[in-house]
Amino acid sequence: MTDLATVLYTEEDIHQRVRELGREITEEYRDRSPVLVSVLKGGVVFLADLIRAIDLPLRVDFMSISRYGPGSHATGVVRVLKDLDHDIGGDDVLVVEDIIDTGLTLSYLLSILEARDPRSIQVCTLLDKSVRRIAPLDVRFTGFDCPDRFVVGYGLDSGERYRNLPYIVAVGDQARLSRDPRALEGLLTNPELRPAAGTAPTA
Ligand code: IMP
Ligand code: MG
Repeated sequence: MTDLATVLYTEEDIHQRVRELGREITEEYRDRSPVLVSVLKGGVVFLADLIRAIDLPLRVDFMSISRYGPGSHATGVVRVLKDLDHDIGGDDVLVVEDIIDTGLTLSYLLSILEARDPRSIQVCTLLDKSVRRIAPLDVRFTGFDCPDRFVVGYGLDSGERYRNLPYIVAVGDQARLSRDPRALEGLLTNPELRPAAGTAPTA
């Protein structure tokens, strides 16, 4: 498409996979009513589509976190900026993530949530960069196993941009994107750059 970005997952790939995940989750939690917990902001686009693919009574709740500083990348320890609105004691909790990279952030978050005595706690992620995993994690539902590339779109950002791209691209030249954070804006504004429906994933 451009040398700056390659489409990894089209709108149609994502839509189809989200529907499958919705069916799997519906099956897994049959006769129960899970609480889907999303970490702001990357996971909200996925969450919004996923909940409409689940045929069960459910609730959603949100957390917002921030890293303490460069050191926290190595430990995953984060500061909770906004906690859940409701107690999860006794609930079936499904944490919904956009992407798991090293897994450090999520494993820290899971330890916080587990301390609140939910009845069960499982993880659903749209993308898993499993080759980058440092913290061992049990991921119950995965959309796609993602190559070790920097990706944006469908909720995932680069410096808060590109979350509204309806498909997911791998950034080809990250150095150029850091120099010019708006380098990919053409993908949003030029309809001709949109991948055609049915385009096979390129990775
Ligand atoms: P982890 O603690 O290394 O697993 O960090 C995961 C978090 O890093 C995700 O929730 C994203 O916010 C961010 N992240 C990791 N990889 C990417 C990417 O390729 N694009 C955008 N954000 C990413
Ligand atoms: Mg995230």
